[in-house]
Amino acid sequence: MAEIVFDEDTRSWLIRTAATSYALRLTEDDTPSHVYWGPALTRDQVSDLIPETGQRWDAFNDPNEGLDELAVDGGTRYWTPALQVRFADGTRALEWRYLSHEIDGEERLRLRFRDRHYPLSITLNYRVPPGTDVIERWIELTNDGTEDAIEVIRSDSATWVLPVRPGYRISHVTGRWAAESQLLREPVPHGEVTFGSRRGITSHHANPWVMLDDGETTERHGEVFSAALAWSGSWRITTTRSSTGRLTVTGGSGQDGVVPRLAPGDTVTTPVFAGLYTEGGFGAASRAWHSYTLDHVLPHPGELRPVLYNSWEATGFDVTEAGQRSLAEKASTLGVELFVMDDGWFGARTGDHAGLGDWQVNRDRFPDGLKPLVDQVHRLGMKFGLWVEPEMVNPDSDLYRAHPDWVLHHPHRTRSELRQQLVLNFARPDVAGWAHGWLDSLVGEHGIDFLKWDMNRPFSEAGWPTDGDPDRLWVEHTHAVYAILDRLRAGHPGLRIEACSGGGGRIDFGIMARTDQVWTSDNTDALDRLVIQHGYGQVYPARAMSAWVTDDPNFVTHRTTPLRFRFHVAMAGVLGIGGDIVGWPEEDLEYAREQIALYKEIRPVVQHGRLHRLVPPETDGVTALQYVAADDGSTVVFVFRQAAHFHAPERPIRLGGLDVAARYRDADTGKVWHGAALLAHGLLPGLPDGDFASALIRLTKL
Ligand code: DGJ
Repeated sequence: MAEIVFDEDTRSWLIRTAATSYALRLTEDDTPSHVYWGPALTRDQVSDLIPETGQRWDAFNDPNEGLDELAVDGGTRYWTPALQVRFADGTRALEWRYLSHEIDGEERLRLRFRDRHYPLSITLNYRVPPGTDVIERWIELTNDGTEDAIEVIRSDSATWVLPVRPGYRISHVTGRWAAESQLLREPVPHGEVTFGSRRGITSHHANPWVMLDDGETTERHGEVFSAALAWSGSWRITTTRSSTGRLTVTGGSGQDGVVPRLAPGDTVTTPVFAGLYTEGGFGAASRAWHSYTLDHVLPHPGELRPVLYNSWEATGFDVTEAGQRSLAEKASTLGVELFVMDDGWFGARTGDHAGLGDWQVNRDRFPDGLKPLVDQVHRLGMKFGLWVEPEMVNPDSDLYRAHPDWVLHHPHRTRSELRQQLVLNFARPDVAGWAHGWLDSLVGEHGIDFLKWDMNRPFSEAGWPTDGDPDRLWVEHTHAVYAILDRLRAGHPGLRIEACSGGGGRIDFGIMARTDQVWTSDNTDALDRLVIQHGYGQVYPARAMSAWVTDDPNFVTHRTTPLRFRFHVAMAGVLGIGGDIVGWPEEDLEYAREQIALYKEIRPVVQHGRLHRLVPPETDGVTALQYVAADDGSTVVFVFRQAAHFHAPERPIRLGGLDVAARYRDADTGKVWHGAALLAHGLLPGLPDGDFASALIRLTKL
């Protein structure tokens, strides 16, 4: 349980999580200043760290030395500002005046401030979700004035101040469409580096989390400071490293040059930028984030995600009722539990050039509407899922012809199309209301169990000519998406949702709080997926990671891999089938049946267990990972070898997370192992010969 205490003498607060401590204080001029973040310290121990009043020798040069708890723009502060505003008279600096604090139970702290002169209130919020070492932080800004708006140039949710350490290194992901979540681990440059998205979505190119270590941390050992932002629009995380060894990480929603206004009487609440300190290497940091996601982010974490079938790779836009029926029939014989019809079922959507926005069933393709197909899928014993892309419109659509002003646009500027589509302005209440209306009816009238909510292009020309504060659309679009998801879920409690954005373009804790799983990438090539899933899993859990087995050769990489390899890669997440199964030979169908049945046995361990990355994919062509069940300690190990090399002996793989004192039985061979031996020496995986070889080993704790 967390504990939060205030010390009046030093005007400091100590937050104790399950295994860490965090402290801040007020300086003489009421500036909130960071004191400590790291391994658990008591109140007494932390008090040693509170600096004596008085000036440091270099105070004339860098008075705050990056210690601001929320680095505001103002005074003699030169580190990256987290909060930057401009008042109506042009004043930009902020001066803190402390008002009060509230400690709410064991887990929440609120610190209230006001600017010394201008009518701006700032509340710093801290929350420790029970049972975690995660500290959620966010701020609230209120314009207490009655006349003038305040321009909000930057409003980060939190600044994380890290202790002085040599050799700081950052882990983060980069990528692109069909190659998301590529893990990078590199030295933190001195100066400022900003990671972010200016696309209005989280993006394929970066993901809003960072991990920092002192350069010595390994998968199994060492300290990690991490931070992750719960936001699905444009975002920015800046690291600032000084020559003194100090490092700060400040982050929040928004992007440079976009300056919304805070109207008199209004309050903005920023998204959560959560921080986590862990020991035990990158593996322990990931496991702590996974537990946090399962216990405090996902809406139905206790559920087992069903095995789904998705028609996209099988049919593309060539959707017909007969085709979907035969796919559904075949899928049901494999043990699939959820059948999802992808793009191409509505309006004039026979390709990507037309129809987006016209969410009426295409009667050429479904003469009697969707109901007969939905009913058949239900009769076959599966749930029914449907693809939608509510935020988009093709210019060639009835919707756009009727409402050309509903899209993001600037006067006298091109409306740039990507994938022949434009972005609807969901910040407009009429547009958001329209979207909720048709989604609500679609789901309600057809008994739809699952939506795949896609978003295939970033913003451009993000204007709103009829609004006096058009820049607010960047944030309000995302809030409107959240609100529609929340309303849909509330209105249809059985509805489950997959977040998709041209693959993995919108994966973050903001969207995960409202969806049940995410489409990890349009790249379903099993070998590429190992790398993508490795990057994804640094922060996000397998329980939400959709992974399909698709056809051979793969449609993006044209690579051929054995069906076994494809299954094993997908079984390390939420298994789905995405191939043209009507054309699969009987022996492949039989193999699929067996693997789906096997997956159903292991999925409690995969989806709810603790991940141990045994050999990362970048090593030498062998990758291994393991899930350990929290309850009975049973474990599943996946091993993948990209290429066989002449005379290269198989090496034992050392397992993790086992009980040294216990013994484990291999469910397939019956062999019994000592946990101690598997941890200390390892397990020979028994990979088959050849390239793209894989093994799945199940061990039951005796
Ligand atoms: C992008 C998604 O990632 C794909 O899975 C598919 O749904 C297409 N959009 C459909 O247009």
